[in-house]
Amino acid sequence: MSRVTLSRYLIEQTRSNNTPADLRFLIEVVARACKEISHAVSKGALGGVLGSMGTENVQGEVQKKLDVISNEILLEANEWGGHLAGMASEEMDNAYQIPGKYPKGAYLLVFDPLDGSSNIDVNVSVGTIFSVLRCPDEYLSQNDSLDEQAFLQPGTKQVCAGYAIYGPQTMLVLTLGNGVKGFTLDRELGSFVLTHDDIRIPESTAEFAINMSNSRHWEPPVSRYVEELLAGEEGPLGKNYNMRWVAAMVADVHRILTRGGLFMYPRDSREPSKPGKLRLMYEANPMSFIVEQAGGVSTNGLERILDIQPTSLHQRVAVYLGSKEEVERVTAYHQA
Ligand code: AHG
Ligand code: MN
Ligand code: MN
Repeated sequence: MSRVTLSRYLIEQTRSNNTPADLRFLIEVVARACKEISHAVSKGALGGVLGSMGTENVQGEVQKKLDVISNEILLEANEWGGHLAGMASEEMDNAYQIPGKYPKGAYLLVFDPLDGSSNIDVNVSVGTIFSVLRCPDEYLSQNDSLDEQAFLQPGTKQVCAGYAIYGPQTMLVLTLGNGVKGFTLDRELGSFVLTHDDIRIPESTAEFAINMSNSRHWEPPVSRYVEELLAGEEGPLGKNYNMRWVAAMVADVHRILTRGGLFMYPRDSREPSKPGKLRLMYEANPMSFIVEQAGGVSTNGLERILDIQPTSLHQRVAVYLGSKEEVERVTAYHQA
């Protein structure tokens, strides 16, 4: 059987599912940028791309060279094509305006250019996460600069979400709202090839992911739940659980999409004003869309993440996502 490349998959989506041509183009451009990032990541020390920039992003986190390089690759790839009204990223304080010399389009692109960047210097998997929203009509003007309000839409409004993982293989995982597809980069051909046709998360799991070093800062429902997980077969949950933590959400979520599991980054008492570490618009929302499309569940402990109305671009959120049974259990502990 002939191989299905990303381009072919997208063209067939246009035929069968009315995926607009400009959205198809957008996804192809993002995929091309991810190939370029994959290339830069894989060069490592030979490309002079390791280490820090010596600057901070809006979150007050030190930027790695590859955070900045990846951000620039995505901006340059996407600014000229006429498919976007604006972009926003973890690495930019404010929304990115499409330069006046280029036409504007109907979509908004939001991304975490390099997720898990503390892994870069130790040669462990990192990734890129992206989310596509439609720009509301009232903000679509060729002349004015784009108002940040245009981006503040709940995750249910996403028309596409995806991530690239730069691991032993480079893969692109994508949803257009009708299931989740995984493409593996064929480096000889330079194209993403469909290798994972219908990604589903098993409902039950015996594997969880959380940064245990924060346990003294957790809220009571999280402590209770993790204690029960650790109690194993003799405890109330009646089975032995295994733990993994890659420190790159992309890699932890990719494992969960492959064999099930539960990912948690709870709100804790370190910065009481901030609900957790992860960012709603370019980490939690796209991943939640993908997870739900694969049959999993995603909440902030109390409500569905995709239903949250964002109030700012870099807003944080607590995250519990993955296999249905366990996400529902930890959510119920919060609600109780
Ligand atoms: P980023 O590199 O984009 O800032 O994201 C890192 C995030 C996420 O990918 C990961 O799950 C988490 O931070 C790891 O946090 P800890 O270092 O607290 O374990
Ligand atoms: Mn990230
Ligand atoms: Mn990042």
